[in-house]
Amino acid sequence: MKEMAGKGAVDALVKSGMKLGLGTGSTAIPAVRYIGSLLKEGKLRDIRVVPTSFQTSIECEKWGIPLFTLNSREINGSLDLTIDGADEVDDNNYCVKGGGGALLTEKIVAYASAAYAIVVDEAKLAEHLGLTFPLPLEVVPEARLPVIRALEAWGGEAILREAVRKAGPVITDHGNLLLDVFFKHPVDCPALEAALNHIPGVVENGFFTRLRPAVFIARSDGSLEVRN
Ligand code: A5P
Repeated sequence: MKEMAGKGAVDALVKSGMKLGLGTGSTAIPAVRYIGSLLKEGKLRDIRVVPTSFQTSIECEKWGIPLFTLNSREINGSLDLTIDGADEVDDNNYCVKGGGGALLTEKIVAYASAAYAIVVDEAKLAEHLGLTFPLPLEVVPEARLPVIRALEAWGGEAILREAVRKAGPVITDHGNLLLDVFFKHPVDCPALEAALNHIPGVVENGFFTRLRPAVFIARSDGSLEVRN
């Protein structure tokens, strides 16, 4: 299903000559591989890619996909399209992202893109964001407890994300910590996306509400729905 969503978005949206942002996670990576195979076959040409994480960079390197940063002259601060996964998507196509810890670069890249596509399987659809899958927040290490206390005032219960196969917390690609925040009641996601970043020490949060992505939803019956 993840492969169907990723390939569907690439087939529908990616054209030769594009400046592309490529996402992180188990649904975005099949799209990266597919772009790599189309480049190798000569079916796509002149693609310039900005990756959203180490994971994506490494996968692009494997496929020989040309990599740049948003600050490269060839990219000049803006992209034609970004394709990425999500942890939850609601009926407004608002998303929660950051389950893979890459939300900061993912948001910088997404908000620098003229078009945005989200690839998910149907298990990611949610009525209210932040109630089942926690909202990730990237915070500078010294602000950990003050941010946790501040979140309590918003009705959020925050847990420090612990690493697997390494003792201690997850350290992001930018050297920060991640808090996963559970809300008890439905929240105003666009308002919180703006407000949470005003807490000193919060670098970025995982609500993505300012873009209206095309959402490619792979269904268990084998169909692919595209919701604009
Ligand atoms: C990475 O930080 C995330 O935003 C991913 O895009 C998100 O977690 C989706 O990942 P999966 O496709 O692996 O579920």
